[in-house]
Amino acid sequence: MKRPIVMFAGTGRAAPKRVMKNDEFAAIGIETSDEWIRERTGIAQRHVAGPDETLTSLAAEASRTAMATAGVTASEIDAIVMATVSPDHLLPSAGVELQAAIGASRAAAFDVDAACTGWIYAAVVAEGLIATGTAETVLIVGGEVLTRITNWKDRNTCVLFGDGVGATVMKRSVKGRGLLSSYVRSDGTLAKLLWRPAGGGAAAATEETLNDGSFWIQMQGRDVFKHAVRSMADACDRAMDGAKLSAADIDLVIPHQANVRIIEATAKHANISMDKVFVNVDRYGNTSAGSIPIALDEAIRSGRIVEGSTVLFVGFGAGFTWGSLVVRF
Ligand code: ACO
Repeated sequence: MKRPIVMFAGTGRAAPKRVMKNDEFAAIGIETSDEWIRERTGIAQRHVAGPDETLTSLAAEASRTAMATAGVTASEIDAIVMATVSPDHLLPSAGVELQAAIGASRAAAFDVDAACTGWIYAAVVAEGLIATGTAETVLIVGGEVLTRITNWKDRNTCVLFGDGVGATVMKRSVKGRGLLSSYVRSDGTLAKLLWRPAGGGAAAATEETLNDGSFWIQMQGRDVFKHAVRSMADACDRAMDGAKLSAADIDLVIPHQANVRIIEATAKHANISMDKVFVNVDRYGNTSAGSIPIALDEAIRSGRIVEGSTVLFVGFGAGFTWGSLVVRF
């Protein structure tokens, strides 16, 4: 099938009201410093959900903005593809909870779990739904309330994560705009480098797994870093090859926002200067599946993406999963 088949017709984002600065960790007994966190990660602050904020409430807010921007109503949404690893409930899906919250009564709703690459996977799934005629208008949403599955006693992880959601409406392409290429891969043999050992069917959530930390996200940071740089660099090449474009043709790169050093290394490999790379990890931390669609919405609203812009999206996450898209706006 000749591309582009689908395009992004509208975007939105939402983040919790509370902003937590790096120097607040000391007050909760974490041995760290603003200097260490900024130097190693580029993160200065993150948003943290309060008691009244849930993944569903944030996703609904982001989705309403995306639908308004695209000029579609909830009843026109044929499918919701929700990417998250921190749903409000393990059953049913976060997708159906969002469906109920926004009143998208005609939609088929479900989740994809590809961690930080989730929104890229969701876009690929949505393209398939539209290409086959299964759906005309698809809402893809990536987002997390990671601070609820983070071990607040583990300085290796708790300084990295934040909460937030990005939503995107996808429709049939017009005027040659839209998805020019895509690339998705995973390697499940590396699952235990970034995972939650307990809380699922294999090891229940018990007092013991809460206390020994296995209920929460665990990560081998240095190994994750190494694989992230290698996989994101490869994914950049694959998506540009797929679109028959070179680095000079790319107007903006929107990478997964986990760590500014990973972003810089990826850009260097792709031969793209940092002034063409969108970075907001300093303000959000790592919001996993939320990071790319939040950055996309900010890039559009700040005028860094305009009609005709060619944008390379690249992500990497737990699984491991990784992937990329090239999109003409
Ligand atoms: N504050 C102070 N010291 C810390 C902290 C902290 N918050 N966390 C770890 N340290 C210490 C470690 O204990 C270690 O001390 P030691 O040498 O006495 O053992 C020291 O700092 C150095 O640790 P390293 O792991 O070597 O530090 P590194 O430079 O690799 O940075 C980091 C750690 C930031 C986690 C980095 O490895 C990284 O960013 N990895 C990738 C993480 C990531 O991107 N994860 C998500 C990607 S996938 C997804 O988004 C789900």
